[in-house]
Amino acid sequence: MPKSIIPVVNRQKDTKIEIRRVRIDDISAIAEIEKKSYPEPWSQNLFERELQIKFSNFFAAIKDCEIIGYVCFWTVSDEGQITNITVKEKFRRKGIGSRLMKYIMDISYAKKIKKMFLEVRAQNYPASKFYEKFGFKKIGLRKKYYSNTDDAVVMAKTL
Ligand SMILES: CC(C)(COP(=O)(O)OP(=O)(O)OC[C@H]1O[C@@H](n2cnc3c(N)ncnc32)[C@H](O)[C@@H]1OP(=O)(O)O)[C@@H](O)C(=O)NCCC(=O)NCCS
Repeated sequence: MPKSIIPVVNRQKDTKIEIRRVRIDDISAIAEIEKKSYPEPWSQNLFERELQIKFSNFFAAIKDCEIIGYVCFWTVSDEGQITNITVKEKFRRKGIGSRLMKYIMDISYAKKIKKMFLEVRAQNYPASKFYEKFGFKKIGLRKKYYSNTDDAVVMAKTL
C-alpha cells in the first residue's frame, strides 16, 4: 500500500471534538454527567459559582453539540490545582480525558505555572492511572478526606 493511503489512527487528533470555555447554559448538562460520575457530586450551584471565580478555568469538550467532558482548574500565582476532570461514561477510554488534560497543560505553560496539584480518591483506580500517565506523582495522603471515610491521595506534577 503506498504510504500516502495508510490510514492514520490517532485518537488524540479527533478533529470532531471541540474544547471551549463553559457557559452558564452548559451547566445543567455538566451537572447531569457529574451526578452519574461521583458518589459526592458537585451541585449545579457550585458549578455556576466556578464561572464567577477569576482564578478558575472551566472548559468543556463538545462532540456533535453534546457536552462529553469537562475540566476545572484553578491557577493562583505559579501553582495550579485541578479541581474536577470528568468524561461522560460512554465516552471514557477514548482519549477525551487526555485531550482535556493536554489542553489545560498548554494553558498552564502559557501562564507560567510551575506546579500542578490534585486530589484523587484512594480507591479511584482509573483516575489514578490517568494522572500517573500524565506524570503526576503521589506526594501525600489525606486520611478520611471524603465524607469522613475515604482517603484522598494528593498528587503533583512539576511543569
Ligand atoms: C479519569 C477520567 C477523566 C479519564 O478520562 P478518559 O477519557 O477515560 O481517559 P483517556 O481515554 O484519555 O485515558 C488516558 C489514560 O488514562 C488511563 N486510564 C483511563 N481510564 C482507565 C481505566 N479505567 N483503567 C486503567 N487506566 C485508565 C490509561 O493509561 C489511559 O491510556 P490508554 O487508554 O492508552 O491505556 C475518566 O475515567 C472519568 O471521567 N472518571 C470519572 C470521574 C473521575 O473519577 N474523575 C477524576 C476525579 S479525581
